[in-house]
Amino acid sequence: MARNAPSFICQNCGAVYGRWQGKCEACGEWNAVAEESLGKQSPAIGPGRPARKGRAFALEPLAGKSRQAPRLSSGIAEFDRVTGGGFVHGSALLVGGDPGIGKSTLLIQAAAALARAGHRAIYISGEEAIAQVRLRAERLGLSTAPVELASETSVEDIVATLGQGNTPRLVIVDSIQTMWTDTVESAPGTVTQVRGSAQVLIRFAKRSGATVILVGHVTKDGQIAGPRVVEHMVDAVLSFEGDGAHQFRILRAIKNRFGPTDEIGVFEMTGGGLQEVANPSQLFLSERDRGTPGTAVFAGVEGTRPLLVEIQALVAPTSLGTPRRAVVGWDPNRLSMVIAVLEAHCGVRLSTHDVYLNVAGGLRIMEPAADLAVAAALVSSLVNAALPADAVYFGEVSLSGVVRPVAQISIRLKEAQKLGFTRAVLPQAARADTAETELAVTAIASLASLVADISAQGAEHDRRVARLRQQDG
Ligand code: TYD
Ligand code: MG
Repeated sequence: MARNAPSFICQNCGAVYGRWQGKCEACGEWNAVAEESLGKQSPAIGPGRPARKGRAFALEPLAGKSRQAPRLSSGIAEFDRVTGGGFVHGSALLVGGDPGIGKSTLLIQAAAALARAGHRAIYISGEEAIAQVRLRAERLGLSTAPVELASETSVEDIVATLGQGNTPRLVIVDSIQTMWTDTVESAPGTVTQVRGSAQVLIRFAKRSGATVILVGHVTKDGQIAGPRVVEHMVDAVLSFEGDGAHQFRILRAIKNRFGPTDEIGVFEMTGGGLQEVANPSQLFLSERDRGTPGTAVFAGVEGTRPLLVEIQALVAPTSLGTPRRAVVGWDPNRLSMVIAVLEAHCGVRLSTHDVYLNVAGGLRIMEPAADLAVAAALVSSLVNAALPADAVYFGEVSLSGVVRPVAQISIRLKEAQKLGFTRAVLPQAARADTAETELAVTAIASLASLVADISAQGAEHDRRVARLRQQDG
Protein backbone atom coordinates (compact mmCIF):
# COMPACT_ATOMS: atom_id res chain seq x y z
CA MET A 1 0.00 0.00 0.00
CA ALA A 2 1.35 3.40 -0.92
CA ARG A 3 2.12 5.77 1.89
CA ASN A 4 -0.89 7.86 2.90
CA ALA A 5 -3.17 5.95 0.54
CA PRO A 6 -6.77 6.24 1.68
CA SER A 7 -8.15 3.27 3.57
CA PHE A 8 -11.65 2.38 4.52
CA ILE A 9 -11.98 1.47 8.18
CA CYS A 10 -14.97 0.12 10.06
CA GLN A 11 -15.72 2.61 12.84
CA ASN A 12 -17.18 -0.16 14.94
CA CYS A 13 -14.51 -2.85 14.95
CA GLY A 14 -11.52 -1.38 13.15
CA ALA A 15 -11.44 -3.76 10.15
CA VAL A 16 -9.60 -2.24 7.17
CA TYR A 17 -10.86 -2.46 3.56
CA GLY A 18 -9.37 -1.40 0.24
CA ARG A 19 -12.63 0.20 -0.90
CA TRP A 20 -15.86 1.41 0.55
CA GLN A 21 -18.62 -1.03 1.39
CA GLY A 22 -22.01 -0.74 3.01
CA LYS A 23 -21.66 -3.56 5.48
CA CYS A 24 -18.60 -4.48 7.49
CA GLU A 25 -17.89 -8.16 6.89
CA ALA A 26 -15.97 -8.48 10.15
CA CYS A 27 -18.61 -7.30 12.60
CA GLY A 28 -21.74 -7.13 10.45
CA GLU A 29 -22.40 -3.44 11.19
CA TRP A 30 -24.05 -1.43 8.39
CA ASN A 31 -22.84 1.99 7.33
CA ALA A 32 -19.87 1.90 9.65
CA VAL A 33 -17.09 1.83 7.04
CA ALA A 34 -15.60 5.28 6.49
CA GLU A 35 -12.62 6.60 4.59
CA GLU A 36 -9.61 7.40 6.73
CA SER A 37 -6.05 8.18 5.91
CA LEU A 38 -3.75 5.90 7.86
CA GLY A 39 -1.21 8.71 7.70
CA LYS A 40 2.03 8.44 9.55
CA GLN A 41 0.71 5.47 11.48
CA SER A 42 1.53 3.04 8.72
CA PRO A 43 5.09 3.58 7.59
CA ALA A 44 6.00 1.78 4.43
CA ILE A 45 7.05 -1.79 5.05
CA GLY A 46 8.82 -4.00 2.56
CA PRO A 47 11.50 -3.38 -0.01
CA GLY A 48 13.19 0.01 0.05
CA ARG A 49 13.39 0.16 3.85
CA PRO A 50 16.56 -1.32 5.34
CA ALA A 51 16.08 -3.51 8.36
CA ARG A 52 17.16 -1.90 11.63
CA LYS A 53 19.87 -3.68 13.56
CA GLY A 54 18.24 -4.97 16.76
CA ARG A 55 19.47 -4.30 20.28
CA ALA A 56 20.04 -7.36 22.48
CA PHE A 57 18.22 -7.48 25.80
CA ALA A 58 18.49 -9.71 28.87
CA LEU A 59 16.02 -12.56 29.35
CA GLU A 60 14.58 -13.25 32.79
CA PRO A 61 13.70 -16.53 34.56
CA LEU A 62 10.06 -17.27 35.37
CA ALA A 63 10.83 -17.48 39.08
CA GLY A 64 11.91 -14.14 40.44
CA LYS A 65 11.44 -11.59 43.14
CA SER A 66 8.71 -9.41 41.59
CA ARG A 67 6.43 -7.98 44.23
CA GLN A 68 2.70 -8.31 43.95
CA ALA A 69 1.26 -5.54 41.84
CA PRO A 70 0.98 -2.61 44.24
CA ARG A 71 -2.57 -1.32 44.48
CA LEU A 72 -4.24 1.84 45.60
CA SER A 73 -7.75 1.74 46.97
CA SER A 74 -10.18 3.93 45.07
CA GLY A 75 -11.98 4.85 48.27
CA ILE A 76 -15.16 3.24 46.87
CA ALA A 77 -15.44 -0.35 48.13
CA GLU A 78 -17.71 -1.54 45.29
CA PHE A 79 -15.24 -0.15 42.72
CA ASP A 80 -12.34 -1.94 44.44
CA ARG A 81 -14.30 -5.19 44.45
CA VAL A 82 -14.54 -5.07 40.65
CA THR A 83 -10.94 -4.08 39.98
CA GLY A 84 -9.70 -6.76 42.37
CA GLY A 85 -8.58 -4.55 45.25
CA GLY A 86 -7.82 -1.14 43.81
CA PHE A 87 -5.87 0.54 41.03
CA VAL A 88 -2.60 -1.06 39.99
CA HIS A 89 0.37 1.28 39.44
CA GLY A 90 0.97 1.99 35.77
CA SER A 91 -2.21 0.33 34.58
CA ALA A 92 -4.73 1.56 32.04
CA LEU A 93 -8.46 0.94 32.42
CA LEU A 94 -11.33 1.46 30.03
CA VAL A 95 -14.72 2.24 31.56
CA GLY A 96 -17.50 1.79 29.03
CA GLY A 97 -21.22 2.41 29.26
CA ASP A 98 -24.25 4.00 27.64
CA PRO A 99 -24.34 7.78 27.53
CA GLY A 100 -25.97 9.17 30.66
CA ILE A 101 -25.53 6.00 32.73
CA GLY A 102 -23.26 7.77 35.24
CA LYS A 103 -19.65 7.17 34.14
CA SER A 104 -18.56 10.77 34.72
CA THR A 105 -20.33 10.78 38.09
CA LEU A 106 -18.64 7.56 39.23
CA LEU A 107 -15.19 8.69 38.16
CA ILE A 108 -15.36 12.19 39.63
CA GLN A 109 -16.43 10.52 42.89
CA ALA A 110 -13.46 8.15 42.70
CA ALA A 111 -11.07 11.01 41.86
CA ALA A 112 -12.39 13.06 44.78
CA ALA A 113 -12.05 10.15 47.21
CA LEU A 114 -8.46 9.58 46.13
CA ALA A 115 -7.60 13.28 46.25
CA ARG A 116 -9.06 13.56 49.75
CA ALA A 117 -6.82 10.67 50.81
CA GLY A 118 -3.84 12.80 49.80
CA HIS A 119 -3.07 11.40 46.33
CA ARG A 120 -2.73 13.51 43.22
CA ALA A 121 -5.80 12.96 41.03
CA ILE A 122 -6.40 14.67 37.70
CA TYR A 123 -9.69 14.76 35.80
CA ILE A 124 -9.54 15.73 32.14
CA SER A 125 -12.81 16.28 30.38
CA GLY A 126 -13.00 16.43 26.62
CA GLU A 127 -16.76 16.69 26.61
CA GLU A 128 -17.65 19.17 29.28
CA ALA A 129 -16.41 22.63 30.13
CA ILE A 130 -14.75 23.12 33.51
CA ALA A 131 -17.83 24.98 34.76
CA GLN A 132 -20.01 21.92 34.03
CA VAL A 133 -17.64 19.56 35.84
CA ARG A 134 -17.58 21.95 38.81
CA LEU A 135 -21.36 22.12 38.82
CA ARG A 136 -21.60 18.34 39.04
CA ALA A 137 -18.97 18.22 41.80
CA GLU A 138 -20.96 20.83 43.72
CA ARG A 139 -24.11 18.77 43.39
CA LEU A 140 -22.21 15.76 44.71
CA GLY A 141 -20.78 17.74 47.61
CA LEU A 142 -17.23 17.22 46.38
CA SER A 143 -16.21 20.82 45.65
CA THR A 144 -13.64 20.88 48.42
CA ALA A 145 -11.76 17.78 47.20
CA PRO A 146 -8.36 18.78 45.75
CA VAL A 147 -8.93 17.23 42.30
CA GLU A 148 -7.08 18.99 39.48
CA LEU A 149 -9.29 19.75 36.47
CA ALA A 150 -8.80 20.50 32.82
CA SER A 151 -10.92 20.65 29.71
CA GLU A 152 -8.56 19.45 26.98
CA THR A 153 -8.59 17.16 23.95
CA SER A 154 -5.02 17.10 22.63
CA VAL A 155 -3.20 14.09 24.06
CA GLU A 156 0.23 15.59 23.39
CA ASP A 157 -0.69 18.65 25.49
CA ILE A 158 -2.19 16.39 28.14
CA VAL A 159 0.88 14.18 28.42
CA ALA A 160 3.17 17.26 28.53
CA THR A 161 1.06 18.70 31.36
CA LEU A 162 0.96 15.43 33.28
CA GLY A 163 4.75 15.19 33.04
CA GLN A 164 5.15 18.33 35.14
CA GLY A 165 5.37 18.20 38.92
CA ASN A 166 4.73 15.05 40.96
CA THR A 167 3.51 12.03 39.06
CA PRO A 168 -0.28 11.87 39.44
CA ARG A 169 -1.67 8.68 40.97
CA LEU A 170 -4.86 8.76 38.94
CA VAL A 171 -5.65 10.36 35.61
CA ILE A 172 -9.18 10.25 34.21
CA VAL A 173 -9.72 10.96 30.53
CA ASP A 174 -13.40 11.51 29.77
CA SER A 175 -13.91 10.42 27.01
CA ILE A 176 -11.42 8.71 24.68
CA GLN A 177 -13.67 9.50 21.69
CA THR A 178 -13.02 13.22 22.09
CA MET A 179 -9.21 12.91 22.18
CA TRP A 180 -6.90 13.48 19.23
CA THR A 181 -3.20 13.07 18.62
CA ASP A 182 -0.87 14.87 16.19
CA THR A 183 0.65 11.59 15.06
CA VAL A 184 -2.49 10.62 13.16
CA GLU A 185 -4.11 12.60 10.41
CA SER A 186 -7.71 11.37 10.71
CA ALA A 187 -10.48 13.39 12.33
CA PRO A 188 -11.15 13.03 16.10
CA GLY A 189 -13.55 10.23 16.95
CA THR A 190 -12.39 7.94 14.12
CA VAL A 191 -10.95 4.53 14.90
CA THR A 192 -7.43 5.58 13.95
CA GLN A 193 -7.56 8.64 16.20
CA VAL A 194 -9.06 6.76 19.14
CA ARG A 195 -6.43 4.05 18.82
CA GLY A 196 -3.60 6.53 18.40
CA SER A 197 -4.70 8.66 21.36
CA ALA A 198 -5.17 5.63 23.58
CA GLN A 199 -1.69 4.42 22.64
CA VAL A 200 -0.11 7.69 23.78
CA LEU A 201 -2.06 7.75 27.05
CA ILE A 202 -1.37 4.09 27.83
CA ARG A 203 2.33 4.59 27.14
CA PHE A 204 2.24 7.48 29.63
CA ALA A 205 0.66 5.18 32.24
CA LYS A 206 3.30 2.46 31.80
CA ARG A 207 6.17 4.95 31.86
CA SER A 208 5.06 7.08 34.79
CA GLY A 209 3.32 4.54 37.02
CA ALA A 210 0.10 6.55 37.08
CA THR A 211 -3.22 4.78 36.68
CA VAL A 212 -5.03 6.07 33.60
CA ILE A 213 -8.77 5.56 33.23
CA LEU A 214 -10.23 6.06 29.77
CA VAL A 215 -13.96 6.58 29.47
CA GLY A 216 -15.66 5.16 26.36
CA HIS A 217 -19.21 5.37 25.11
CA VAL A 218 -21.08 2.28 24.05
CA THR A 219 -23.15 1.89 20.88
CA LYS A 220 -26.65 0.44 20.70
CA ASP A 221 -25.51 -3.17 20.27
CA GLY A 222 -23.54 -3.06 23.52
CA GLN A 223 -20.06 -2.91 22.06
CA ILE A 224 -17.84 -0.03 22.96
CA ALA A 225 -17.89 2.01 19.78
CA GLY A 226 -14.58 2.96 18.32
CA PRO A 227 -12.97 2.29 21.70
CA ARG A 228 -13.70 -1.35 21.10
CA VAL A 229 -10.40 -1.31 19.29
CA VAL A 230 -8.88 -0.08 22.56
CA GLU A 231 -10.15 -3.04 24.57
CA HIS A 232 -7.15 -5.22 23.81
CA MET A 233 -4.68 -2.43 24.59
CA VAL A 234 -5.78 -1.70 28.16
CA ASP A 235 -5.25 -3.83 31.28
CA ALA A 236 -8.87 -3.87 32.33
CA VAL A 237 -12.21 -3.19 30.71
CA LEU A 238 -15.07 -2.28 33.03
CA SER A 239 -18.60 -1.87 31.86
CA PHE A 240 -21.09 0.32 33.69
CA GLU A 241 -24.63 -0.92 33.12
CA GLY A 242 -28.18 -0.28 34.18
CA ASP A 243 -31.38 0.73 32.54
CA GLY A 244 -33.01 4.12 32.57
CA ALA A 245 -36.09 2.94 34.45
CA HIS A 246 -34.15 1.75 37.48
CA GLN A 247 -31.81 3.41 39.95
CA PHE A 248 -29.45 0.42 40.10
CA ARG A 249 -26.14 0.56 38.31
CA ILE A 250 -23.84 -2.42 37.94
CA LEU A 251 -20.10 -2.15 37.38
CA ARG A 252 -18.78 -5.32 35.78
CA ALA A 253 -15.25 -6.32 34.76
CA ILE A 254 -15.16 -7.71 31.21
CA LYS A 255 -11.41 -8.09 31.15
CA ASN A 256 -8.97 -7.77 34.01
CA ARG A 257 -5.27 -8.56 33.83
CA PHE A 258 -4.83 -8.04 37.58
CA GLY A 259 -7.95 -9.50 39.10
CA PRO A 260 -11.18 -11.42 38.73
CA THR A 261 -13.70 -10.79 35.96
CA ASP A 262 -16.77 -12.20 37.66
CA GLU A 263 -17.22 -9.65 40.44
CA ILE A 264 -19.83 -6.93 40.17
CA GLY A 265 -20.15 -3.63 41.99
CA VAL A 266 -23.66 -2.42 42.73
CA PHE A 267 -24.57 1.25 43.00
CA GLU A 268 -27.73 3.25 43.32
CA MET A 269 -28.07 6.56 41.46
CA THR A 270 -29.48 9.12 43.85
CA GLY A 271 -29.91 12.89 43.81
CA GLY A 272 -26.53 13.10 45.52
CA GLY A 273 -24.62 10.86 43.10
CA LEU A 274 -23.86 7.16 43.18
CA GLN A 275 -24.30 5.38 46.51
CA GLU A 276 -22.72 2.00 47.13
CA VAL A 277 -25.07 -0.88 47.75
CA ALA A 278 -23.37 -3.30 50.11
CA ASN A 279 -26.30 -5.71 50.33
CA PRO A 280 -27.78 -5.95 46.84
CA SER A 281 -30.07 -8.93 47.52
CA GLN A 282 -32.18 -6.82 49.87
CA LEU A 283 -32.45 -4.14 47.21
CA PHE A 284 -33.37 -6.51 44.38
CA LEU A 285 -36.03 -8.23 46.46
CA SER A 286 -37.50 -5.04 47.91
CA GLU A 287 -40.39 -4.80 45.45
CA ARG A 288 -41.40 -8.44 45.33
CA ASP A 289 -44.89 -9.58 44.38
CA ARG A 290 -45.35 -12.29 46.97
CA GLY A 291 -47.68 -15.10 46.10
CA THR A 292 -48.13 -14.20 42.42
CA PRO A 293 -47.95 -17.03 39.88
CA GLY A 294 -44.94 -16.80 37.58
CA THR A 295 -42.34 -15.53 40.04
CA ALA A 296 -39.45 -17.46 41.57
CA VAL A 297 -36.51 -16.26 43.65
CA PHE A 298 -33.14 -17.31 42.28
CA ALA A 299 -30.25 -17.66 44.73
CA GLY A 300 -27.35 -16.61 42.52
CA VAL A 301 -23.69 -15.79 43.01
CA GLU A 302 -21.77 -13.00 41.32
CA GLY A 303 -18.06 -13.56 41.86
CA THR A 304 -17.74 -14.18 45.57
CA ARG A 305 -20.97 -12.51 46.61
CA PRO A 306 -24.39 -14.16 46.79
CA LEU A 307 -27.19 -12.28 45.04
CA LEU A 308 -30.87 -13.12 45.35
CA VAL A 309 -33.13 -11.87 42.58
CA GLU A 310 -36.69 -12.43 41.50
CA ILE A 311 -37.32 -14.09 38.13
CA GLN A 312 -40.66 -13.15 36.58
CA ALA A 313 -42.32 -15.13 33.81
CA LEU A 314 -45.54 -14.65 31.90
CA VAL A 315 -46.83 -17.50 29.75
CA ALA A 316 -49.93 -16.62 27.74
CA PRO A 317 -51.73 -18.22 24.77
CA THR A 318 -50.40 -16.74 21.54
CA SER A 319 -52.46 -15.04 18.88
CA LEU A 320 -49.70 -15.30 16.32
CA GLY A 321 -48.46 -18.14 14.14
CA THR A 322 -45.04 -18.04 15.73
CA PRO A 323 -45.13 -17.56 19.50
CA ARG A 324 -43.11 -14.72 20.97
CA ARG A 325 -40.17 -15.22 23.30
CA ALA A 326 -39.03 -12.00 24.95
CA VAL A 327 -36.27 -11.88 27.56
CA VAL A 328 -34.91 -9.05 29.69
CA GLY A 329 -31.85 -9.72 31.81
CA TRP A 330 -31.09 -13.30 30.76
CA ASP A 331 -29.68 -15.17 27.78
CA PRO A 332 -32.42 -15.81 25.14
CA ASN A 333 -30.63 -18.96 23.95
CA ARG A 334 -30.69 -20.32 27.45
CA LEU A 335 -34.44 -19.63 27.66
CA SER A 336 -35.01 -21.51 24.38
CA MET A 337 -33.10 -24.43 25.83
CA VAL A 338 -35.12 -24.53 29.04
CA ILE A 339 -38.35 -24.36 27.00
CA ALA A 340 -37.16 -27.20 24.78
CA VAL A 341 -36.32 -29.37 27.80
CA LEU A 342 -39.73 -28.64 29.35
CA GLU A 343 -41.40 -29.71 26.10
CA ALA A 344 -39.28 -32.78 25.42
CA HIS A 345 -38.94 -34.28 28.90
CA CYS A 346 -41.65 -32.81 31.11
CA GLY A 347 -44.74 -32.84 28.92
CA VAL A 348 -45.16 -29.05 29.11
CA ARG A 349 -46.58 -27.64 25.88
CA LEU A 350 -45.37 -24.11 25.24
CA SER A 351 -45.45 -24.02 21.44
CA THR A 352 -48.82 -22.28 21.44
CA HIS A 353 -47.85 -19.81 24.15
CA ASP A 354 -46.00 -16.52 24.21
CA VAL A 355 -43.26 -16.46 26.84
CA TYR A 356 -41.99 -13.31 28.53
CA LEU A 357 -39.14 -13.50 31.01
CA ASN A 358 -37.81 -10.68 33.16
CA VAL A 359 -35.12 -10.42 35.82
CA ALA A 360 -36.48 -7.90 38.34
CA GLY A 361 -34.58 -4.73 39.06
CA GLY A 362 -32.79 -4.44 35.71
CA LEU A 363 -30.06 -6.92 36.61
CA ARG A 364 -28.43 -9.11 33.96
CA ILE A 365 -27.77 -12.71 35.05
CA MET A 366 -25.09 -14.85 33.39
CA GLU A 367 -25.20 -17.98 35.52
CA PRO A 368 -26.63 -21.25 34.12
CA ALA A 369 -27.64 -21.94 37.75
CA ALA A 370 -30.71 -19.80 37.07
CA ASP A 371 -32.18 -22.55 34.81
CA LEU A 372 -34.17 -24.12 37.63
CA ALA A 373 -35.65 -20.82 38.85
CA VAL A 374 -36.59 -19.91 35.28
CA ALA A 375 -38.25 -23.28 34.68
CA ALA A 376 -40.15 -22.98 37.97
CA ALA A 377 -41.38 -19.48 37.09
CA LEU A 378 -42.47 -20.60 33.61
CA VAL A 379 -44.43 -23.59 34.86
CA SER A 380 -45.89 -21.58 37.72
CA SER A 381 -47.23 -19.01 35.25
CA LEU A 382 -48.51 -21.67 32.84
CA VAL A 383 -50.54 -23.58 35.44
CA ASN A 384 -51.39 -20.37 37.32
CA ALA A 385 -50.12 -21.61 40.67
CA ALA A 386 -47.97 -19.41 42.88
CA LEU A 387 -44.72 -20.90 44.13
CA PRO A 388 -44.08 -20.80 47.89
CA ALA A 389 -43.00 -17.23 48.69
CA ASP A 390 -40.37 -18.37 51.18
CA ALA A 391 -38.45 -20.64 48.79
CA VAL A 392 -35.32 -20.03 46.71
CA TYR A 393 -34.35 -21.98 43.59
CA PHE A 394 -31.06 -22.80 41.91
CA GLY A 395 -29.64 -25.54 39.69
CA GLU A 396 -28.48 -26.06 36.14
CA VAL A 397 -30.72 -28.01 33.77
CA SER A 398 -29.06 -30.31 31.25
CA LEU A 399 -30.51 -31.14 27.84
CA SER A 400 -31.61 -34.52 29.13
CA GLY A 401 -33.75 -32.85 31.81
CA VAL A 402 -31.42 -33.74 34.68
CA VAL A 403 -30.91 -31.04 37.31
CA ARG A 404 -27.18 -30.65 37.76
CA PRO A 405 -25.25 -29.31 40.74
CA VAL A 406 -23.75 -25.82 40.76
CA ALA A 407 -20.85 -24.21 42.61
CA GLN A 408 -20.82 -22.28 45.90
CA ILE A 409 -23.92 -23.86 47.39
CA SER A 410 -23.33 -22.96 51.01
CA ILE A 411 -23.07 -19.20 50.41
CA ARG A 412 -26.32 -19.26 48.42
CA LEU A 413 -28.09 -21.01 51.29
CA LYS A 414 -26.57 -18.70 53.91
CA GLU A 415 -27.75 -15.60 52.06
CA ALA A 416 -31.27 -17.03 51.66
CA GLN A 417 -31.39 -17.81 55.36
CA LYS A 418 -30.17 -14.33 56.23
CA LEU A 419 -32.98 -12.78 54.20
CA GLY A 420 -35.69 -14.83 55.89
CA PHE A 421 -36.26 -17.63 53.38
CA THR A 422 -37.10 -21.02 54.88
CA ARG A 423 -36.93 -23.37 51.90
CA ALA A 424 -34.53 -24.18 49.09
CA VAL A 425 -35.19 -26.18 45.95
CA LEU A 426 -31.88 -27.45 44.60
CA PRO A 427 -30.20 -30.30 42.69
CA GLN A 428 -30.19 -33.78 44.22
CA ALA A 429 -26.46 -34.05 43.66
CA ALA A 430 -25.92 -31.00 45.88
CA ARG A 431 -27.58 -32.52 48.92
CA ALA A 432 -24.25 -33.35 50.58
CA ASP A 433 -23.47 -29.62 50.79
CA THR A 434 -26.68 -28.79 52.63
CA ALA A 435 -25.87 -30.50 55.93
CA GLU A 436 -25.32 -27.25 57.81
CA THR A 437 -28.27 -25.25 56.61
CA GLU A 438 -31.41 -24.63 58.64
CA LEU A 439 -33.49 -24.26 55.47
CA ALA A 440 -35.90 -27.03 54.52
CA VAL A 441 -34.28 -28.59 51.47
CA THR A 442 -36.13 -30.05 48.50
CA ALA A 443 -33.55 -31.90 46.43
CA ILE A 444 -34.71 -32.77 42.93
CA ALA A 445 -33.04 -35.04 40.42
CA SER A 446 -34.94 -34.14 37.27
CA LEU A 447 -36.88 -31.18 35.98
CA ALA A 448 -39.90 -33.43 35.42
CA SER A 449 -40.36 -33.95 39.17
CA LEU A 450 -40.35 -30.19 39.81
CA VAL A 451 -42.95 -29.73 37.05
CA ALA A 452 -45.10 -32.47 38.56
CA ASP A 453 -44.97 -30.77 41.99
CA ILE A 454 -45.97 -27.37 40.64
CA SER A 455 -48.70 -28.80 38.39
CA ALA A 456 -50.15 -30.71 41.35
CA GLN A 457 -50.38 -27.43 43.27
CA GLY A 458 -52.02 -25.82 40.23
CA ALA A 459 -54.58 -28.62 39.99
CA GLU A 460 -55.26 -28.37 43.72
CA HIS A 461 -55.74 -24.61 43.35
CA ASP A 462 -58.17 -25.12 40.43
CA ARG A 463 -60.18 -27.64 42.43
CA ARG A 464 -60.42 -25.24 45.37
CA VAL A 465 -61.60 -22.41 43.09
CA ALA A 466 -64.19 -24.72 41.47
CA ARG A 467 -65.45 -25.79 44.91
CA LEU A 468 -65.80 -22.17 46.05
CA ARG A 469 -67.70 -21.27 42.87
CA GLN A 470 -70.05 -24.21 43.46
CA GLN A 471 -70.71 -23.08 47.03
CA ASP A 472 -71.42 -19.51 45.85
CA GLY A 473 -73.78 -20.73 43.12
P1 TYD B 1 -23.21 11.19 33.86
O1 TYD B 1 -22.23 10.82 34.90
O2 TYD B 1 -23.05 12.52 33.22
O3 TYD B 1 -23.29 10.07 32.73
P2 TYD B 1 -22.22 9.68 31.60
O4 TYD B 1 -20.94 10.31 31.93
O5 TYD B 1 -22.19 8.17 31.68
O6 TYD B 1 -22.79 10.12 30.30
O7 TYD B 1 -24.65 11.03 34.55
C1 TYD B 1 -25.74 11.55 33.95
C2 TYD B 1 -27.03 11.13 34.60
O8 TYD B 1 -26.96 10.91 35.97
C3 TYD B 1 -28.04 12.23 34.39
O9 TYD B 1 -29.13 11.68 33.70
C4 TYD B 1 -28.38 12.72 35.73
C5 TYD B 1 -27.99 11.63 36.65
N1 TYD B 1 -27.48 12.11 37.94
C6 TYD B 1 -28.20 11.86 39.08
O10 TYD B 1 -29.29 11.28 39.07
N2 TYD B 1 -27.70 12.29 40.30
C7 TYD B 1 -26.52 12.95 40.39
O11 TYD B 1 -26.09 13.32 41.50
C8 TYD B 1 -25.77 13.19 39.17
C9 TYD B 1 -24.47 13.93 39.20
C10 TYD B 1 -26.30 12.75 37.98
MG1 MG C 1 -19.95 11.80 30.84
